[in-house]
Amino acid sequence: MTKIFVTRKIPGDHIEKLKSLGEISVSEEARPLTPEELLEKAKGADGILTLLTDKIDGDVMDAIGPQLKIISNYAVGFDNINVTEASDRGIVVANTPCDEVNEAVAEHTWALISALSRRIVESDEFVRQEGYFADRGGYNGWEPDLFLGMNLIGKTLGIIGLGRIGIMVAKRAQGYSMNIVYNKHTRDVECEEKLGVKFCTLDDLLSTSDVVTLHVPLNDETRHMINKDILAKIKKGAFLVNTARGSVVAEPDLIEALKNGQLAGAALDVFDNEPNISPDLIAMPNVILTPHIASATREARDKMGELAMLAIIDTLSGKRPENIVNTDVWEKRRK
Ligand code: GLV
Ligand code: GLV
Repeated sequence: MTKIFVTRKIPGDHIEKLKSLGEISVSEEARPLTPEELLEKAKGADGILTLLTDKIDGDVMDAIGPQLKIISNYAVGFDNINVTEASDRGIVVANTPCDEVNEAVAEHTWALISALSRRIVESDEFVRQEGYFADRGGYNGWEPDLFLGMNLIGKTLGIIGLGRIGIMVAKRAQGYSMNIVYNKHTRDVECEEKLGVKFCTLDDLLSTSDVVTLHVPLNDETRHMINKDILAKIKKGAFLVNTARGSVVAEPDLIEALKNGQLAGAALDVFDNEPNISPDLIAMPNVILTPHIASATREARDKMGELAMLAIIDTLSGKRPENIVNTDVWEKRRK
């Protein structure tokens, strides 16, 4: 009998539909499984539905067994899975890119940009907590210089990685009448014409952008790409926003750039070593921290559940899933 294992409960009722395939088990834990628990529970599964908090490498795949045919990752990113090792074994890897997720991440990116440029989080804390800041005593009425921020109109937004999410961020920047520059491996001339975005070398993007936002996937090339050398090239007083993956940024170098004033502030939804966040970042009032929630809207999570479920049903019924990550594996997949 076909066996499916789901590593954690997800919102919505899509998992129910997997029952048409055979035996479904879902972890009852309200936390990620330990590697040992995952192996024990997933052993013998034909398909697994994984979360970005599950690390799946070749050893895990082998321990689950030679019948494993599909790893369906409930995320757009798939850096938690060793895709090469899955391909070597003929295992299909699928993810859940869709407009709902891309829009949710783009909207969260804009929530963070607005919150940074207008110091929303700091000023909210100030209003609530009398005496929170040593040098100020809470809200005593309008003041000429209280929480001065920055207008976005006419400023330059630098988008590093103009993929599906980067494009949606650019579209929203038009509404703010910002200049939009981007850097990407290959120029996207169609986007340049449609959205009025300008291609820039990374150095030019860094030296001209008032807000830099990251939308690259995490891979060997992008791991810690935002390091000391790159941060030194950023326009002094710029803001950095990261809703991509924490490990794209070298966190100690970011902390240094915030301390020495190279960056005026940062908004981070993702961290290098989740769920741990550097105490230095937590202590900084000009840093906004959200707990990896960029895709956490009902619309996005519902669609993610549907796509993750469908990828398993499709693969196990011999139909190529819509969002296959290792496209080459389909013809030589395990049957
Ligand atoms: C969330 O971080 C995702 O990759 O979907
Ligand atoms: C990222 O989206 C890139 O294409 O560089």
